[in-house]
Amino acid sequence: MKMSGVKIAIIGGSGMYQLIEEAKSLIVDTPYGKSPRIDIGEVSGKKVAFLARHARPGSYEVRHEVPPHMINYRANVYALKKLGVGIIIATNACGSMREEFGPGDIVIPDQLIDMTKRRTYTFYDGDVSPKKLMGIAKDEPVVHIDFTNPYCPTLRKILLRAAKMANIHVHGKGCYVCTEGPRFETPAEIRFFSLVGGDLVGMTSSPEAILARELNMCYATVCVVTNYAAGMQMRISQEEVRAVFEKARGKVCDLLKKTIEMIPKDYSCACQRAVS
Ligand code: HPA
Repeated sequence: MKMSGVKIAIIGGSGMYQLIEEAKSLIVDTPYGKSPRIDIGEVSGKKVAFLARHARPGSYEVRHEVPPHMINYRANVYALKKLGVGIIIATNACGSMREEFGPGDIVIPDQLIDMTKRRTYTFYDGDVSPKKLMGIAKDEPVVHIDFTNPYCPTLRKILLRAAKMANIHVHGKGCYVCTEGPRFETPAEIRFFSLVGGDLVGMTSSPEAILARELNMCYATVCVVTNYAAGMQMRISQEEVRAVFEKARGKVCDLLKKTIEMIPKDYSCACQRAVS
């Protein structure tokens, strides 16, 4: 199987380290550093790439090693673009700020509030411009992407239809608040995030969603609620996050497979023309 020309990628978060059974693996060099291992193989009859975002860059071993605030998001997203990817579906474990989103539930968020503090948020800030990779001749160094819909509406629609077809219950929208981590939040922070419209809290959707749009890729995410947010339950532990995700993993994989199956051959979306 050719390792390039792959159109669809899955970025697996906490608890999702593998999806493709018979895969070929590679590590991609980017101007920002090496990617972690990327698996390429068939899912639902389509060629798909899988990258575990918490895996160590440059290593063929895939373990949960890199904390959210240390992930090289630019290398990960650029590496997928370099392989030809135009559609990314991510998974995220997250806390819930709403009673009706309980542990084990899946939410497909439609909005994002970025509360991170010290990450690299753009490709368009230095000598290396990804425009060449995208075949864009126009040399406009200042780029402001539209982020009205931070998660691709086209891809979200397919995810929701796939959930229906596969009989998997999902919440069809929600606002994801991305914190810096790696600590969990205080109850006062959660009250604040909730007051300003947040529904879910996690640590990895920013800058991943931003960077994907900057490279003209569609990006949506499957959020698994692993706990109620700080102050809504006694305490939050990594063990609980892991155990709840593990229980939901089968249905997440089923949803990803059905979604991949339902992505049409002639897929087209405005996200893929965000920068021109
Ligand atoms: N907060 C932030 N990130 C998370 C949480 C949480 O409560 N649960 C899983 N990831």
